Amino acid sequence: MAMTIRRKAFWPITAFVALFLTPPAWAEGADGTVQPSGRWTQAEVGSAPTPPMGWNSWNAFGVAITEDKVLGSAQAIQDSGLAALGYRYINIDDGWWHYRRQADERMQVRANLFPSANVGGTEATSLRPFTNRLHAMGFKAGIYTDIGRNACSQAWAPDNPNLPEGTQPEREVGLYGHVRQDIRLYFGAWNFDYIKVDSCGIAHYGADRTGVANGTYRQFKPLIHETNLGQTDVAKVRQLYSEVRDALRRERPRGDFVLSLCNWGSANVRAWGQDVGTTWRTSNDIDPSWGRLLHNFDSVATRELYAGPGHWNDPDMLEVGNGLFDAAHLIEARAQMSLWAIAAAPLIIGTDLTRAPHAILDVLGAPEVIAVDQDPAGNQGVIAYADSEREIIVKALGQRGAKAVVLFNRLAEPTDITLTAAHLKLAGPIALRDLWQRRDIGTFSGRKAFHLGAHEALMLRATGAPLLAQGSYLSEMTGRIHVAADGIRVPEPDPIIYRMVDPYVGDTSSGGHRPAYAGWGGPRADATPYDQGLSVAGEGFRYGLGVLANSRLEVKADGKFRHFTARVGVDDSTRSRNSAVRFEIYGDGRLLAASQWLSFGDPAKEIAADTAEVRVVELIVQAAKPADSPIVASWGNARFN
Ligand code: GAL
Repeated sequence: MAMTIRRKAFWPITAFVALFLTPPAWAEGADGTVQPSGRWTQAEVGSAPTPPMGWNSWNAFGVAITEDKVLGSAQAIQDSGLAALGYRYINIDDGWWHYRRQADERMQVRANLFPSANVGGTEATSLRPFTNRLHAMGFKAGIYTDIGRNACSQAWAPDNPNLPEGTQPEREVGLYGHVRQDIRLYFGAWNFDYIKVDSCGIAHYGADRTGVANGTYRQFKPLIHETNLGQTDVAKVRQLYSEVRDALRRERPRGDFVLSLCNWGSANVRAWGQDVGTTWRTSNDIDPSWGRLLHNFDSVATRELYAGPGHWNDPDMLEVGNGLFDAAHLIEARAQMSLWAIAAAPLIIGTDLTRAPHAILDVLGAPEVIAVDQDPAGNQGVIAYADSEREIIVKALGQRGAKAVVLFNRLAEPTDITLTAAHLKLAGPIALRDLWQRRDIGTFSGRKAFHLGAHEALMLRATGAPLLAQGSYLSEMTGRIHVAADGIRVPEPDPIIYRMVDPYVGDTSSGGHRPAYAGWGGPRADATPYDQGLSVAGEGFRYGLGVLANSRLEVKADGKFRHFTARVGVDDSTRSRNSAVRFEIYGDGRLLAASQWLSFGDPAKEIAADTAEVRVVELIVQAAKPADSPIVASWGNARFN
């Protein structure tokens, strides 16, 4: 039964609504009712309306970092025209610090590596001349530290000559116990604009570590166990990073900073990164190999509802120019750029640009690919097709009727991919442009077949009539959605996915045979939280939002959308069948519509609400009673029209 509650006539129908809102008797007293916020509560942490772009020393030089090398790459970014394309942050990584001076606990710089830091006087060393230089070149400057007492290089490269030196306390260069002081130094006195905060200090200094056992470093009982969420103190990790955010806000009240969280996707950061950081890593370190590229991309590809203007998933830095992504492997190099751009990922170059051949500069500087990454709507691409070897990822662009799409061949042998209008949510004749070739490649209707070489990613811009003549699916506006509550009671680890080659899958006109695995449970666009197709009592929905019960999504409608509709119900993939759920739609905090209580097996119900003039629409799924395992619920065909 469809039920619409008009905002302006809200009061008289309250009683009518209440009839349907009264939970079944057995649900009375159930805790955990989700309340609307009535406003957009997405945190603004620093400032990055589009994904940060720049350069970082780590993938290029490791701890063998010098001022000359950094400034050399900065100069190359300027001279090659990359700066004009948006690469603006020049970030130093591990290796810059010398020791923490004990008299006043002020950090000292390795002046043999950064000669301009040798300022003398009471400061002795300072990175201010270095940031002055970068700022004078028109860049922004980024620094690196750790949330614990000690750094990653101290744990992982014990023989490196560039490690911090001195007594045990002098070698404690991380933020722990020094957040206010260090942030004031880095952002006040030294005038940095961007900070990457690693987490080895709270993960790799357990009593059993050599450097700890032999007294070089103080023990830090690990708060993070990378492969064991149960052993990870999620709340404490979040709190430590929140202190850094708060210190940055105090130091830079106008919000002119970027805070890059680097705890490698651990500690359930996927759920809270958006409240604490500007960007947050979703996986362990990338390296210039194909397997790592796939893993890091997979770690970000299912988190499309967590990114948006000002807050971005970070699958780690670019390897373009290095190893398997060097000038002899331009197909792979373009594949990384394509995948990172469609995922609205930060584009942080990680190669020595003073030696980069033109072909690599061309990959990094592909203007139409960069434009997709930097599209102001801030949508992350949504998986429209996935099987073990092929993927189609579609990113709705700010211009109505325009989509970027990546057709991706994961394997080392050629394959065929059929792109359909349905993948793109477009209709009629669709014009295609190849964003690498920078040329139009004609129009198609219905479907179009492509042949892809090994490891190839084709990146296209498609323009046509929107499938919804009068509106948009919510899965076309991921950047407007804030996951305010994900409904996850017990966080689950990310699956590590080993995909198989499936010869029986056929062409790519369907949604695909996706790998089936237990997963994390965060809400998804055009899929369930566990990456299945949306389906209620046998009725499949190609488009929509898949969530868990007890979830709340805020949609930044800004008064632009007149009407919301969806077909809702408990998803057929749910493991928990012992609780009913109710779907509720709020507009600026007022209840606009609600479904009946719906149980597993009940047919999908139509739900609709008048959202004209509403600034924030909230989509809530209540559970009638605590369930034995998460209840999967589907907002099938969720759309504004
Ligand atoms: C890792 C981090 C890398 C790099 C490295 C430095 O933890 O993920 O991006 O910063 O530490 O030691």
